[in-house]
Amino acid sequence: MLRNSISKWYKKWYNVELNADTEILPLIGSKEGIMHICMTYLDEGDSVLIPNPGYPTYRSAATIAGANVIAYTLKEENNWFPDFDELEKNDLNNVKLMFVNYPHMPTGQLPTKELFHKLVAFAKKHNILICHDNPYSFILNKNPISLLSIEGAIDVVLELNSFSKSHNMAGWRVGMLSGSKERIDEVLRFKSNMDSGMFLPLQLAAAKALELDQEWYDQLNIVYTKRREKVFELLQLLNCRFDKTQAGMFVWASVPPVYKDGFELSDIVLKESNVFITPGGIFGNAGNNYVRVSLCTTEEKIEESITRIKN
Ligand SMILES: Cc1ncc(COP(=O)(O)O)c(C=O)c1O
Repeated sequence: MLRNSISKWYKKWYNVELNADTEILPLIGSKEGIMHICMTYLDEGDSVLIPNPGYPTYRSAATIAGANVIAYTLKEENNWFPDFDELEKNDLNNVKLMFVNYPHMPTGQLPTKELFHKLVAFAKKHNILICHDNPYSFILNKNPISLLSIEGAIDVVLELNSFSKSHNMAGWRVGMLSGSKERIDEVLRFKSNMDSGMFLPLQLAAAKALELDQEWYDQLNIVYTKRREKVFELLQLLNCRFDKTQAGMFVWASVPPVYKDGFELSDIVLKESNVFITPGGIFGNAGNNYVRVSLCTTEEKIEESITRIKN
């Protein structure tokens, strides 16, 4: 039932055909899925490519699995895309897995089809499995794309998706993994030793959520757009620079040079105004000169933060 709904959802929104019986694996959240994938594919001596800056769970899960983590740097001047020439300079022989995530957290960078084609070509050339973590494609983004929509991607890509962001179901713990039958069977072989089937009412609720139409995503994005406007105001007050076209649930901004880095700015704002903004360096040192502000709070709270900072 849930797998059928996921298959229809992928067709409707991403134009990707997935076999509901063999190419989809419902998950207890995509975070848990990252762990399942690392445990399935990584052993001691294997290497994994992870983005810097990036979601910290990729590094922790890969480390727990015993793998050697190779962080690839994303830079603003390269649109926060991987630099493939730099990637090629690494010893890629032991690299089994590469994590990518667009729309990217924490920078909010959207993907392009060209980037996705390059990723698939890179994976094929080096025989690396790509895990695309795609939870933000519906948040402040009119054009959701799946890496699986790229020709040939099914051979080298596993894609994670989540109900936490697109359907406000974070606490319910439901996610999904899509890919070829071979890959799904491999992950399931590990996962079925860790957990068991999902409570039926939860599956039914998740399936129902996937039937929601454009209006659902539109009203969700109206809320985030309003919050984002306020966050822009807050960041302007701190003289931070940011790109207004970013997607996802956060705003990423570079800190003015009067501060040593994002940690210093975050500390000052916390001490003087009792407002917490996340230092970008917690996502990797390539984020040191940035801060990330969450949109997961009410407009009123953001408004109050602005007032406190002004005062
Ligand atoms: C990039 C990224 N991937 C995965 C997750 C995990 O989402 P969930 O486990 O709720 O599906 C998050 C949530 O914070 C995230 O930011």
